[in-house]
Amino acid sequence: MFQINDNFTKIAGNYLFAEVARRVSAFQDRNPQRRVIKMGIGDVTEPLPEASIKAFHEGVDDMGRRESFMGYGPYEGYAFLREAIAKNDFQSRGADIGADEIFLSDGAKCDTGSIQELFGANVRIAVPDPVYPVYVDSNVMAGHSGLWKDGRYEGFVYLDSTPENGYVPAPPAEAVDVIYLCFPNNPTGAVATREQLKTWVDYARANKALILFDAAYEAFVRDPAIPRSIYEIEGARECALEFRSFSKTAGFTGVRVAFTVIPRDLKVPDSTGKMHSLHSLWMRRQATRYNGLSYPVQKASAAIYSPEGKAQVKTLLDFYLENARLVREAILSVGVPCVGGENSPYLWVRPGGDSWAFFDRLLNEAGVVCTPGSGFGRCGEGHVRFSAFNSRQNVQDAIALIKQALTKG
Ligand code: MLT
Repeated sequence: MFQINDNFTKIAGNYLFAEVARRVSAFQDRNPQRRVIKMGIGDVTEPLPEASIKAFHEGVDDMGRRESFMGYGPYEGYAFLREAIAKNDFQSRGADIGADEIFLSDGAKCDTGSIQELFGANVRIAVPDPVYPVYVDSNVMAGHSGLWKDGRYEGFVYLDSTPENGYVPAPPAEAVDVIYLCFPNNPTGAVATREQLKTWVDYARANKALILFDAAYEAFVRDPAIPRSIYEIEGARECALEFRSFSKTAGFTGVRVAFTVIPRDLKVPDSTGKMHSLHSLWMRRQATRYNGLSYPVQKASAAIYSPEGKAQVKTLLDFYLENARLVREAILSVGVPCVGGENSPYLWVRPGGDSWAFFDRLLNEAGVVCTPGSGFGRCGEGHVRFSAFNSRQNVQDAIALIKQALTKG
């Protein structure tokens, strides 16, 4: 008799952004005339960089000619794109990552979940709280947790990110096997210093743990002292994977391009203690389950590393960062605590109280959508997240409405 995976029955509630979308759509059905400004999910609004559009077209034209037609590509992605990534995103910053250590994919979201196929059954997982809900939900589905109790899953080690620690948690006292870290952080926008990341790398090496470093928002870092890759930290090649995405960097949420870095020297034991290359195992998994990104998409991606592409991406990121600055300034001007928004497109705001109640009030009274902090974890209660991905007009209009809602208390 067919039975479902019991772990799916442990999942508490809807996927956060699906629940936000459900409430927004119900509001729009009830109020078809009302304008809604969406600052909830971090979805880009500005068109793709010109250089990518041009390369995209060229890629499509190549597919239309016998001499340049492309069939199946390499599972890990074309060398022309992986080489551009290795050179521009890593080697230029002193991070020793080669093109053969990069695996292209259609999303960091998918990769942070799929990588769990390589984990042993009894791994102990540490996640920050608040956290990008994908890390938690996907590990519950994979059977790495116990039951949902008092707002948390049993079996996970939660790393509290609070105003007291500047939303950057320190390693736990106990040993864990897998640690999810995300900097610049989603949802708090916090960034980790070199010293803070070194503490994590040292902890992982001492405990033979694996760091899963999500750097999807690294392109927003403007402070030169802040590391943009875990591989800027000595020893990280032995203990860390890194997830990157073109979604926010180049406005590719609708195009779908990301990549995972797995250093060749990262060796992991099986249940008998025999060591294996995680890189080789992931290559084996990808060859079995995945056929890579389309050729025109990879052409469009590589174009962001051309001189014009780089300039256009910088303009795009500067635009969103200016949005973030405007929102941050407005929120701080009414005396409400707010972090993030400086090296990040997210603002983590602390109006206090029930965060879903604030979400509902802001939506119903002002027509502005945020993301309730408690949706990211227990430590997110009392907070809400604003995304700076929007048109300037929408941001300017939303600011006045947000200030009004925050001062009404
Ligand atoms: C977010 O709003 O946290 C992100 O857009 C979600 C994602 O990238 O999947």
